[in-house]
This record gives sequence, structure tokens and C-alpha cells, in this order.
Amino acid sequence: MTSSSPSLLVRPPAFQYRSVKGHFDLFCGESSLTNLAARHGTPLYVYSASMFRERLRTFDDAFRDAPHTVCYSVKANSTLGILRLAARSGAGFDVVSGGELERVRKASALAVRRTVFSGVGKTAPEIANALKAGIMLFNVESESELGVLASTSQRLKKTAPVALRVNPDVSTETHPYISTGLFEHKFGIPVSQARELYAKAARSKHLRVAGISVHIGSQITDVAPFRAAMERVADLVRELRVDGHAIQYVDAGGGFGIPYRPSHSHDFAADIAKYAQAVLEPLFGLNVHVLLEPGRSVVAPTGVLLTRVLYRKTNGAKRFLIVDAGMNDLLRPSLYRAYHEIVPVTTEPAAVRESTDVVGPVCETGDFFARDRELPVVDEGGLLAILDAGAYGMSLASNYNTRPRAAEVLVEGKRARLIRKRESFRDLVRSER
Ligand code: LLP
Repeated sequence: MTSSSPSLLVRPPAFQYRSVKGHFDLFCGESSLTNLAARHGTPLYVYSASMFRERLRTFDDAFRDAPHTVCYSVKANSTLGILRLAARSGAGFDVVSGGELERVRKASALAVRRTVFSGVGKTAPEIANALKAGIMLFNVESESELGVLASTSQRLKKTAPVALRVNPDVSTETHPYISTGLFEHKFGIPVSQARELYAKAARSKHLRVAGISVHIGSQITDVAPFRAAMERVADLVRELRVDGHAIQYVDAGGGFGIPYRPSHSHDFAADIAKYAQAVLEPLFGLNVHVLLEPGRSVVAPTGVLLTRVLYRKTNGAKRFLIVDAGMNDLLRPSLYRAYHEIVPVTTEPAAVRESTDVVGPVCETGDFFARDRELPVVDEGGLLAILDAGAYGMSLASNYNTRPRAAEVLVEGKRARLIRKRESFRDLVRSER
């Protein structure tokens, strides 16, 4: 066991320790996480509204030299309170299902016009609803889908604005489950087939060719693959214009990663500026409206998952902290072996440290948040904060083991608002007969 004092900055500017009578207490803005856990119970997601807005603004600033719309990717965190924040900041949205589109409509009727619909398996009823709602762009992923979009538009006497999602065949260094830009993946249309399909789309009176879209994967921290993809897209824009298509939009997708591991030198604005350069330089002179679909990079660090230590346990040489959150609340470590930094909510400058596994109560060996992690010793009843849980945390939560989903709180200045009540047993069985 060793000891060291924690850095006061956990995820600045939102999450920082404050020194209170000889110990450190973790705050989100003005709200003590200890108090929020006492008031709302655990497991509890806590988000910072100001940090969310600031990160969206960082994207906007980085792309200010080009006409653009930041379409926040709803799948990363689809809670209405978060979508309202995004809509009020002027963001558009990227949705991948009829359900996500309904959420956007509920959050903001106007934002529908700034919404793009992506996804490999859109159903005809989903397409029909999106057409009626008047979304900005359909990102079509196959010839068959193009056919369904054309016939649905015809039936509804509408004209669908269309981009084809092309697969640029660039490889990325990320988890294989979230890499999408190679031919071996199910996403997009090979660039070589794109011209033919654009020609087909242009022949339909009910389709309006409007753009090109691309998305190469998620949690990509190197900007080179984004540049490579955009270079292919730029070539295609030129070719398609020669063919007579009006290419107005280039949708660059999402996918920019964040540092999940503790890092002291991280400068988000500088990272996004580099990303913007990689995306915009290949498009220089093409006069297109750029669409961006960031999810994780906007919302991940703005949220933490608070969980209470239920039991301490040792099995031989192995130490475990058994906490009240499980893989049903935050699936990323189990599904992708993803690393999430974990910090105690209350700690002391000279806290003794230990190496331990942090595991949930779900009956699966894969139900863990960290393995052999060095942490300050936390007693039974103590609180931990799992960091960077704002993206793909709540949106991937389930009711496995008949566990009600967690509550969510949004901290806004001095106010901490409950934006989702904890589920009850009654909620869980409501639709069962
Ligand atoms: N646009 C499209 C078409 C996408 O498929 C995705 C993510 C995004 C935008 C947003 O990507 P982001 O900026 O968040 O990287 N559950 C996984 C991530 C899955 C990403 C799926 N697509 C995780 O927890 O790491």
C-alpha cells in the first residue's frame, strides 16, 4: 500500500475536489456529490450543463471558418434533459432510429430541421415518420434502402433529401466493435459504387441528391484517418458535381475520441482545432455545408456515475470492492474492456492506497468496472465516482437482473435538477401481461 494526495482537478472545469476540513470532497460545479447521492440515492448519473454547453461551443468555434451544423449524436446520451440542452445551444441532431427522432421532437420541435437520420436498418415506418417530420437529411446506407426511401416518399408525395453514406475503406485504431470504415464492416456503400447509385437516386422524382456522408468509427484519437476519409470524400464531391449532382452537404460523421486514462496535458480546444483542420483542409474550395455528428467527445467527460461501496471482500490475494452499480448501468468496461477512471468522492490528502477490483452486483464474471486498480482505500458505505460516463452510459443501460435503471441529475449553476427519476419495480413490469 502507498499514499499520495489527489489532484484537485478531476474533470475540470466541472468536476473538482474542494478541500473541506482536512479532507477532499468531490463537487460538480457548486453541488457536492456526497449531498446529491444522499438526496437521490445511488447509482446516480450526474452531469454538468455548463461543461456540456462549453464542449458544443468548442466544436462550433473550431469549425467557424466553414458553414457547418453540429448534429449532436443522440445515441451517446439520449436523455431529454441533455437533448434540450443541446437544442437550446442551437445544435442539430444525428439520430439512428424512429425512437431517437421522437426524442428530438419532444426536446425541440424546431431542431427536427437540423436532424440527420443515419443507420443501416431504417424501417419503412421510421422513414415515413422522418419524411413527415421534415428532417434535414437521410444518410442512406444501401441500394435497397434507397428504393424504400423513394417509394415511401412517392406514397407521401414528398421529396427526400439524400446523402449516401460511403465507406471510404480507411482503417482506424480503435476497438473492433466500434470501427466502421472498412469494407468488412456492414456500414456504408463502397466509394466505387457510389456514382452509379447517385445516378439512380437522381432519376427518382422523389429523391433530391443533397450530400455525401461518412463515419469511420468511434473513439479515434488520431486525426490522420479523418483526413484520409475526407480526402476520398472531396474527390467524390468533385466527381459527382461533374456528373451534375448538387452536392450541398458533406457529413463528416462523429468518432473523435477522448482520453479516458488520467492525462494532465489534455487540451480539448486544441484537440478539436486539430480535428477541424483535418476535416476542413481536404474540403477547401468545395463550398459545402459541413455536418458533424459528435457524441462522445461532447458528452462523455460531462457525466459521472456515482456508486456506493456495498461490501469489501478478499478472496485469497484478491481484493474486491462490490458496488451498487452494475454492468446494466454502465456496460462499457464489460463490453469493450473499456477503461474508466474511478475516484473516491471523499478522500484525504494522505489516504492509503490499495490495489483492488471494482465490481458490480450482477451475476456475471464480466460485471466489473476496474481490475487490479490502485485506489485510495474506501470503506463500506463510501462513494466512488466513475468518470467519463456521460456517453454510452445511460443510453446503453438495461434492466438485466431486474435492476431498475439509475436516476440522472443535471447540475446547472447552483441548481441540481433531477432529469430522470430512478425506475421503480412497477416501471419494470408495466408492459408485461
Ligand atoms: N455518427 C454515426 C453514424 C455513428 O455511428 C456514431 C457512433 C456517431 C456519429 C457518434 O460517434 P462518437 O462521436 O460518439 O464517437 N457504444 C460505443 C460507441 C458506439 C459508437 C457507435 N456510433 C462505446 O461506448 O464506445
